[in-house]
Amino acid sequence: MSKKSVLSSRKADRHDLYQRSVQAADVEVAFIEKAFKKYRKRKPYSMREDFCGTALLSCTWAASHKQRRATGVDIDPAVLTWATQHNLTPLADAGERVTLLQQDVRFPLKEKFDLINAFNFSYWIFKDRSTLRDYFASVKRSLVEDGVFMLDLYGGWEAHQAVRTKRSIGRGCKYVWDQGEVDPITHDVVNHIHFEFKDGSRLKKAFTYEWRFWSLAEIRELLHEAGFAEVIVYWQDEGDYVIRKTSENQPLWLVYLVALV
Ligand SMILES: C[S@@+](CC[C@H](N)C(=O)[O-])C[C@H]1O[C@@H](n2cnc3c(N)ncnc32)[C@H](O)[C@@H]1O
Repeated sequence: MSKKSVLSSRKADRHDLYQRSVQAADVEVAFIEKAFKKYRKRKPYSMREDFCGTALLSCTWAASHKQRRATGVDIDPAVLTWATQHNLTPLADAGERVTLLQQDVRFPLKEKFDLINAFNFSYWIFKDRSTLRDYFASVKRSLVEDGVFMLDLYGGWEAHQAVRTKRSIGRGCKYVWDQGEVDPITHDVVNHIHFEFKDGSRLKKAFTYEWRFWSLAEIRELLHEAGFAEVIVYWQDEGDYVIRKTSENQPLWLVYLVALV
């Protein structure tokens, strides 16, 4: 590794580090495509990415096929500016098939989509049942007749505990997941992402998430209450995701939920 390529907190960009730590947009596009086709027997073209942040998934989606369009929605204008500069503009033609909207994901849009996604647990910012149900219902209203909503969720007993995990993300940088303890009464949890560098510098609390820790059973019920006809669980199993109706508990688990209109 050349000296130049080693990062320090001074040279690092937290959005770039985030993308390299927790996102695998190509893998996500492949999953979305496969799961949609299985239930709808056709290819999806229009996608809305809720809580899009840097819109990496939207851009990867638009770049994956010339008929594919994406709309990314995020409330934070700063992250959308970053998304335009770093992800949309370099795409040229495909970038023109991506629209970014600065608004609350609950704000109604006229357009309907084949697919809507809410990934990386972002919907956990909605902390009570009625707010989350209303959000799910607004998603359903924004889907076409055979539309699909996909979201993710984690759990397991280790997910309730305060724990710090670190892993290298290259260029002398470590990603640190600083997971808070879940309050057993409210299910509130505060998690942080920090980055640590080889030269000893740090980006502390690069991102902070104040969430309600939702259970899979609660989310499934709320999706049904919001009008989704079927909710399929894709359980992470050694790098792959497999459909499961029941499961043994595990220390830490991760699922995709596929909700059908
Ligand atoms: C964890 S990031 C998600 C980034 C990306 N979706 C991913 O998969 O990694 C959460 C994003 O949600 C945005 N956000 C929070 N509340 C929102 C709301 N009510 N409506 C729209 N965006 C919101 C934040 O600005 C932030 O960019």
